[in-house]
Amino acid sequence: MCGIVGYVGEDKSVEVLMRGLRRLEYRGYDSAGIAVIDDDGVLNTRKRAGKLAILAGDLEANSINNGRTGIGHTRWATHGGPTDANAHPHLGDNGKLALIHNGIIENFSVLKDELLSEGFTFESETDTEVAAVLLGREYQRLGDLSAAFLSVVGRLDGAFTLLAVHQDQPGVVVGARRNSPLVIGLGDGENFLGSDVAAFVEFTRRAVAVGQDQIVTITPQVVTITDFEGNPVEFEEFDIAWDASAAEKGGWSSFMAKEVSEQPDAVANTLLGRIHEGQAVVPELEAFGDDVLASIRRIVIVACGTAANAGYVAKYAIEKWTRVPVDVELSHEFRYRDPVLNAETLIISISQSGETMDTLMAVKFARESGAKAISICNTQGATIPRESDAVIYTHAGPEVAVASTKGFTAQIAALYLFALHLARVRGSITAADAAAQVVELQAIPAKIATVLLQESAVHELAAWMSDTRAVLFLGRHVGFPIALEGALKLKELAYIHAEGFAAGELKHGPIALIEPGQPVFVVVPSPRGSAHLHPKVISNIQEIRARGARIIAIAEEGDVAVLPFADTVLRIPLAAPLFEPFLAVVPMQIFAMELATVKGLDVDQPRNLAKSVTVE
Ligand code: M6R
Repeated sequence: MCGIVGYVGEDKSVEVLMRGLRRLEYRGYDSAGIAVIDDDGVLNTRKRAGKLAILAGDLEANSINNGRTGIGHTRWATHGGPTDANAHPHLGDNGKLALIHNGIIENFSVLKDELLSEGFTFESETDTEVAAVLLGREYQRLGDLSAAFLSVVGRLDGAFTLLAVHQDQPGVVVGARRNSPLVIGLGDGENFLGSDVAAFVEFTRRAVAVGQDQIVTITPQVVTITDFEGNPVEFEEFDIAWDASAAEKGGWSSFMAKEVSEQPDAVANTLLGRIHEGQAVVPELEAFGDDVLASIRRIVIVACGTAANAGYVAKYAIEKWTRVPVDVELSHEFRYRDPVLNAETLIISISQSGETMDTLMAVKFARESGAKAISICNTQGATIPRESDAVIYTHAGPEVAVASTKGFTAQIAALYLFALHLARVRGSITAADAAAQVVELQAIPAKIATVLLQESAVHELAAWMSDTRAVLFLGRHVGFPIALEGALKLKELAYIHAEGFAAGELKHGPIALIEPGQPVFVVVPSPRGSAHLHPKVISNIQEIRARGARIIAIAEEGDVAVLPFADTVLRIPLAAPLFEPFLAVVPMQIFAMELATVKGLDVDQPRNLAKSVTVE
């Protein structure tokens, strides 16, 4: 939520900032802006409401002087609408200081009143401008940007990453972070700051994650980090595991199309190094020790959106294999209901970005209450893993499209590995059964590839349904969270009303929604699975078909029982029941993407959304 980039080094700031913003635009696209100190020591700012292309066009038509120091921002609006005036950077110290911000400063109105009473004026409705003016005031007093930051950060409540430059201190960018992400890129004679490594990965793959409540100062040669009291902080470098090409579209029509197609690799890479002699062995869990894993009495999964749907899927597998009870909770509901937590509770957070504020707060709360925390995360150096006792990274590669796809299937893979590892440690599964599940897991990438081959059938369906105003999704057992995920994808991408239901729940109310022609996707469980599930879902289909529903069934190869009752059948390869979610979700992702495309919508940047939601 908001992308931030900072640069100091060669006389190319405008290019570096604009390239960084292009890679960060998925974090917010309501407005964008840059501020650069040129070689004459003058601070130039340009900012525009709307997507980054508008700012780029503006700069092309009327360029600003390049320089060696600058900051750039792409915004997801919180305080104040998406206007030119509210776009970042905001100015302080009579226009000599520029500041950008990700997060929300909760006490901004108190600070604003203080500054107004001192005669300062404001041009925007944002909380950010308050921080800029306050920082400018402190710069005037102290004459140094890092010192001004030290003086200001203690006065700010809420979540923030702030970056600033001052024209009297060219060659310096200073940043601070609390509860919002900030990563340093270490270059040769140049250094970078970014909301995530995508901001600078094309220039350097050496990075440092800035910790909670820290201030970072970069010059072309030196990086310094202190805590909010000014004490020096030692830091560790890490290598970024992917290169810039992984964050490019590479000929695909959209990032989402590319990421959907990358799912076989996302799952395969997540399994890499975590299967040993046919058993799931997750080295990252060694941090716990088997005795701690054996002592777990309850697991609580916290996550939001698609990540929560991955959690709902995993609940079935974790409980079946480990016999440990699992609750799945939306992160933002979790800590407000005084949950029962203790040292025998394991919290598993799931977050592609690792920055979702609701999930971060749930993890912090759980740990403060004595629970242990494991994070399932796709982003190196992100905050949630740093706040957890252990992390199992998914290796899906960068996910840029706002709608999560490969993140989802990789999360389920990581959770299944976790479940099998835990089951082995606890002795709740036989070695033979565990090995059979691992074989199923290893077969998933090739099976997803098979589903992807049938893309054109889904495209035809989407084209035919372009005027559809509402779609329902039904599933049972692990098919239920897949129905939720199918509905979420359609809502966020095609702006169509969509609901996912447990098929058995229909008769308790939702069946009233069915009218002639109503499209309903049904995830049909394998007839080879539980003896009861398949015929029950077939009965559910008949119930709604009798009321005129148009049925799109997602069913495994060879399931002929579904044919008389479905208007369209999308086939998935045979898989053990717990593994069907990996396959059944893919046609739904493609359907939502294609329907959005047919409607002329931007599938990578749906309206009102941002990739990582770093506000509560
Ligand atoms: O980065 P996270 O996995 O924590 O994000 C959680 C949700 O915001 C995210 O999955 C959201 O629901 C997606 N846009 C869905 O496609």
